[in-house]
Amino acid sequence: MARIGCGLLHTFALLTLIFLTSVLHVLVHKDKNVSLAFSEEWRHSSDISHRSVQSQKNFSNNLNLSADPRTHTRDQCSLAVESRIDCGRDRSLSRADCEGRGCCYVPLPQSGFRGPPWCFYPVRYPGYQMGPMLPTERGQRAMLTRSAPSFLPRDIPTLQLDVMAESLGRLHLTLKDPATPRYEVPFVTSQSRGHKDTHNPLYDVDFQPDPFGFIVRRKSNGRVLLNTTIGPLLFADQYLQLSTSIASSLISGLGEHYTPITLDLNWSSVSLWNRDMAPHRSANLYGSHPFFLVQEGDGQAHGVFLLNSNAMEVLTQPAPALTWVTVGGILDFYIFLGPSPQSVIQQYHEVIGYPMMPPYWSLGFHLCRWGYTSTNITRTVVQLMRQTKIPLDVQWNDLDYADQRRVFTFDPQRFGDLPQMVEEFHQLGMKYVLILDPGISSMSPPGSYKPFDDGLKRGVFITNSTGQILIGKVWPGPTAFPDFTNPTTQDWWMDCIRVFHNIVPVDGLWIDMNEPSNFVQGSVDGCPDSDLEKPPYTPGVIGCQLNSGTLCMSAQQYLSSHYNLHNLYGLTEAIATHRALLKVKGTRPFVLSRSSFPGLGHFSAHWTGDVQSDWEQLRFSIPAVLLFGLYGVPLVGADVCGFGGDTTEELCVRWTQLGAFYPFMRNHNDKPNAPQEPYVFSQQAQDAMRTVITLRYSLLPFLYTLFHHAHTSASTVARSLFLEFPTDPNCQTIDRQFLWGSSLLISPVLEQGAVEVTAYLPLGTWYSLHNGQAYYSKGKYILFPAPLDTINIHVREGSIIPQQVPALTTTASRRNPFTLIVALSAENWAKGDLFWDDGESLDTFERGDYSYVLFFAEESYVVSKPVKLNKSLDRLVLGEVCVFGVQTRPTEVWANGQKVHDFSYSPDTKVLTVPGLDLPMTAMFTVQWS
Ligand code: NOJ
Repeated sequence: MARIGCGLLHTFALLTLIFLTSVLHVLVHKDKNVSLAFSEEWRHSSDISHRSVQSQKNFSNNLNLSADPRTHTRDQCSLAVESRIDCGRDRSLSRADCEGRGCCYVPLPQSGFRGPPWCFYPVRYPGYQMGPMLPTERGQRAMLTRSAPSFLPRDIPTLQLDVMAESLGRLHLTLKDPATPRYEVPFVTSQSRGHKDTHNPLYDVDFQPDPFGFIVRRKSNGRVLLNTTIGPLLFADQYLQLSTSIASSLISGLGEHYTPITLDLNWSSVSLWNRDMAPHRSANLYGSHPFFLVQEGDGQAHGVFLLNSNAMEVLTQPAPALTWVTVGGILDFYIFLGPSPQSVIQQYHEVIGYPMMPPYWSLGFHLCRWGYTSTNITRTVVQLMRQTKIPLDVQWNDLDYADQRRVFTFDPQRFGDLPQMVEEFHQLGMKYVLILDPGISSMSPPGSYKPFDDGLKRGVFITNSTGQILIGKVWPGPTAFPDFTNPTTQDWWMDCIRVFHNIVPVDGLWIDMNEPSNFVQGSVDGCPDSDLEKPPYTPGVIGCQLNSGTLCMSAQQYLSSHYNLHNLYGLTEAIATHRALLKVKGTRPFVLSRSSFPGLGHFSAHWTGDVQSDWEQLRFSIPAVLLFGLYGVPLVGADVCGFGGDTTEELCVRWTQLGAFYPFMRNHNDKPNAPQEPYVFSQQAQDAMRTVITLRYSLLPFLYTLFHHAHTSASTVARSLFLEFPTDPNCQTIDRQFLWGSSLLISPVLEQGAVEVTAYLPLGTWYSLHNGQAYYSKGKYILFPAPLDTINIHVREGSIIPQQVPALTTTASRRNPFTLIVALSAENWAKGDLFWDDGESLDTFERGDYSYVLFFAEESYVVSKPVKLNKSLDRLVLGEVCVFGVQTRPTEVWANGQKVHDFSYSPDTKVLTVPGLDLPMTAMFTVQWS
């Protein structure tokens, strides 16, 4: 746990802390029952434990009575317990300290690590006063001024509030210092689309002038979505805080964390600070996404995005309410009114950029491990996959390939024929991806390692506070870190990639360790003692200090300090890598990034990092994948079979079954672990894996079409049930099942030994994808058999799923005949679509170089309607139609008016199968039955 973790680093330290705090308790709370208070103090002690001594000093030295405690009326302090907003985030406050801040001190007989604060803000705690609202070109503006300083160091005394109605469903609100420009996130909104229509928006905003606060309501029903008058606005140089009520307890987002799909609001907190950290509870992980979606409970939803890249903590409480605390930048809020959950996502992605269109091959199966230590070993892996007839599109190498672990080189002995190996894979219709870490080895003799020598000359590296290159330590030893915010660095990076690619024609790049990860704290020379390294308040992060596991905060980058830019490091590297691949290869880039920030999905895919090979991590990979869909990174998956620790055969089979439905499917393993390629397991396990990977391959046309919709209209690919069935209360928190688009329901086995699965089927008819068996549901859980070779997939009534006969690679499968699965609704209709292009050219949709076909079924026929055609569908045919839910046995079937003799019908499952067709996809076709 992050916040307690700082105290738990050393058991001894913890025990000492408990002892000391219990003594402290007796001194401070003489009037209180000791046993109850002990654990409460322990909770407070954990709050203190991750804050630096410096931070306590700063806060108390600047302590400035902002309100006279004696002026509180009883009413101002008699808030409902769950609505108390903590007045002592920085440290545990005694009654005197608390009241000295003008806060209420009301102890509670409660125990546990977390719970309501004893010291909290009274109603209408003095803060900023708002001046008159004046119209501007983009909306309205008002000035806010503090009547008295707060208890924080370096208050910003005057703030400028801008309120911009950007579309009917999007409200934008910023608070900044009008006197001195402060750091603002430089990227992200560059893709911003928006419908400029702002007449009669979906929201109303009211302002409370003193103390300043605002309330956003949904106009249609008056529901309060945000109310920031529940706590003070604090805005100091290194501490910005705002609290708000939330409209319901169903809130999803604020990643990257190891959580279920909805967040814990029971006095919990999440910190957003990119960190090389294997996923586990309460830790800040690789990415930061200060966005959340709230399900309002009646099917409507809204979202909030705080565009701020500084270290952030978001505290939740059961009111329900939350408090943002960030240690820099400005407050830049976007509020998205939906009203459907899916439209919230679209409105959010309009701001951060729609997801990129992935190359088709990247939807195939990928295989990797740390420990393929030579080209021959890597070749053998590919051979064994082919021998066992398990599809594989992309073979990967981890850092093993690099000479002395230095990127842009390859080991002359073990990987001497790397270019030839890549060529061989290409001959097989496969692709090849390898890893790139951002750390550039700085210790090679001058003249022997061009990336560093050139980088040095061109000034591409991050420097320390005194202007020397900052040296950290990563896999190759001492390393310098490219500053991707610098345009010169982006060009140098492109040159490095171009030179390497000329020799090793990689198809994509895997950018790892880009939080950036550093094995020493800050730098090999440490970090200066400054407010950037130790801000007055440090959010609860793993390692307790912002520079833990990464660079010094005072390090200098082209656009600002690392303190401000840290969370953007991975995004900026992804942008530079995407740009380089685009220029060097001229085809659609494939980049896989570990670190992320809003906007990443426009450039890159993501995987969820170093997950453990265990059943719990298998289960938590589903919300992780679904949440990245909300964050605009739909091409995402977890390492299939787990990365850390030895997998087991059963776990690996179940993980492969689930992984076949991750939008991005890669089996990847850590060096010391037992191998986990599909072919190392028993025949039975191999069969199960082959079956499901092959099933994935047959569904790729459908998956690709979903990516097209994500790319062009920001819909989700792997989709939470609540996005599709927003008015069904049972779907609000489901994260053991998910959908592909709106049509395929995936219900994997997530428990060891289970051979059945209890799956929720929302209202309607659902057909087993495997045999067309229909299940009518009023919205209920149904128990399905799930032997080891089976994952339950159900097709929603009314959908048509385009499929293709699978093959061992997508190069081959893309030439095969299509199949349509037609799942008739109770009213006997169905529809679907297919987006098709060459799978790798740039901007095919934007340039109109694609085919798009609609499919409709009604009563007793299915028909295609090519809406747009290019040559991509030439020579491709529809080979089979499978209709689910045909109630009476057809006696005759026609294809394009010609009688078909070879068809079958199952009266048990009510499935009509028409194989052996040969209907060109480039013309309208009809298959009829009667
Ligand atoms: C950390 C990554 O998360 C992991 O996937 C990779 O195998 C190792 N670095 C080694 O490169």
